[in-house]
Amino acid sequence: MSVAIVILAAGKGTRLNSRRPKVLHEIGGKPLLAHVIAAASKIVDPADIYVVVGHQAERVEAALAPTGVRFILQTEQLGTGHAIQCAQQAVAGYDHILVLSGDVPLIRPQTIEQLWDFHQTEGAAMTLLTAVPENPFGYGRIVRKSDQAVEVETIIEEKSLRPGQENLREINSGIYAFRTSALFEHLKDLSAGNSQGEYYLTDMAQILSAAGERVVAVTAPDVNEVLGANTIAELVALDLTLRLNIASRLMSQGVTIFRPETCIIDAEVEVGPDTVIEPCVHLLKRTKIGSDCLIRAGSVIDNSTIADSTLIRNHCVIEDSIIGSGAEIGPFAHLRMGSDIGDNAHIGNFVETKKSRMGNGAKANHLAYLGDSEVGARTNIGAGVITCNYDGVNKYKTVIGERVFVGSDSTLVAPISIGDGAYIGAGSCITREVPPDALAVGRARQVTKEGWAAARRARVTKEC
Ligand code: UD1
Ligand code: CA
Repeated sequence: MSVAIVILAAGKGTRLNSRRPKVLHEIGGKPLLAHVIAAASKIVDPADIYVVVGHQAERVEAALAPTGVRFILQTEQLGTGHAIQCAQQAVAGYDHILVLSGDVPLIRPQTIEQLWDFHQTEGAAMTLLTAVPENPFGYGRIVRKSDQAVEVETIIEEKSLRPGQENLREINSGIYAFRTSALFEHLKDLSAGNSQGEYYLTDMAQILSAAGERVVAVTAPDVNEVLGANTIAELVALDLTLRLNIASRLMSQGVTIFRPETCIIDAEVEVGPDTVIEPCVHLLKRTKIGSDCLIRAGSVIDNSTIADSTLIRNHCVIEDSIIGSGAEIGPFAHLRMGSDIGDNAHIGNFVETKKSRMGNGAKANHLAYLGDSEVGARTNIGAGVITCNYDGVNKYKTVIGERVFVGSDSTLVAPISIGDGAYIGAGSCITREVPPDALAVGRARQVTKEGWAAARRARVTKEC
């Protein structure tokens, strides 16, 4: 029995008051539509997923093209029923279609599977996935043939509710299964004679039912997974639900997350057991954190890999970087793209690194900039050391050997190399290679004039 999935994603999202198309708004660090496609891809091959796009179609297609799904253009958004009419030609050859909504992103593959099983067992022409939320406002409401009946008589949209019908609590999730032969025989019967002047896919329930076809409903196990995102407030609420789910999963794997509702953790993040995450931490994209780490409050770790037993102190920003085990970072450190910090290395407060490798046990504890550098194992970078990696046009490398001592406030003008075991005197401006085990001092010699200050004071006081 062949089945395709159609995802409706052509709408503008008027209620968001946004210039971005609704389905590209993000929760959990990913567009709404990407979540729906990910769930659909667990049920059928991406080549059997048809996404109906319309509003800013090119932008939506460009963002989701890597998923391998197919796109169908709905040039004018005349309603959810019209969106299916646009898909008719592409999917008429399948025995059944499952319809998902691009703005209902928390739907789980297991629930789609459950709908699909129920639809087949019931031999239905149309099967609706429903839920009974606390507040049904805004959703289409289900009218069953009788209270306990499996069969549905009709769906009434919020705007078409008549007095008394507000009490109907069972909502339509916008997720359905259809037998294509029945759907396409009657799809042309849809009319736009409602307050919105749209072709409502929901009207198919009544049309099919009246034609003697079997229309049934199954209730989703978790109401949260069928909630839609029509407003920014709803979007933010779904984001919170999703992130709390992620935090719960990590906690069940042995990670401690204090005040999880303040943390922003993306879906693909991995964290090892016995790691502790303090409040207001962001763990983004494909970040991987080992076990026994402590991530202190306020740190943002973006697309980075951190090995076991590492301490990230407060308010660090770590981007596209790698950190070894037992390292200590921060507070207030900024590790930019391509930083590779070795085992047991220390990066202290107000230190910035970029495309730099710090060897095992190397330290830069205070106020330094290391760009395009290699720092050998156990080397100490003093407070205020700067690598001058940029001449206004090109970037150059600084290579520092092992066990080097770079005195405070030194500037290292790249390209430059400093051999193993060398010493750089504090306040030096180093412009030439330093051989291993040498001392290099590149600063003006100190001049001391005995009694000069006292003499000046005496002179100035007299003049006044
Ligand atoms: C729809 C249902 C409502 C249900 C709710 C669940 C209809 C008429 N109503 O209402 O019963 O409770 O979903 O979330 O279907 N879209 C298109 N082309 C269009 C119009 C919409 O592709 O011409 C897409 C939208 O991008 C969106 C989805 O269809 O992803 C649903 O449209 P939306 O306008 O959000 O419908 P709701 O008012 O939420
Ligand atoms: Ca919606």
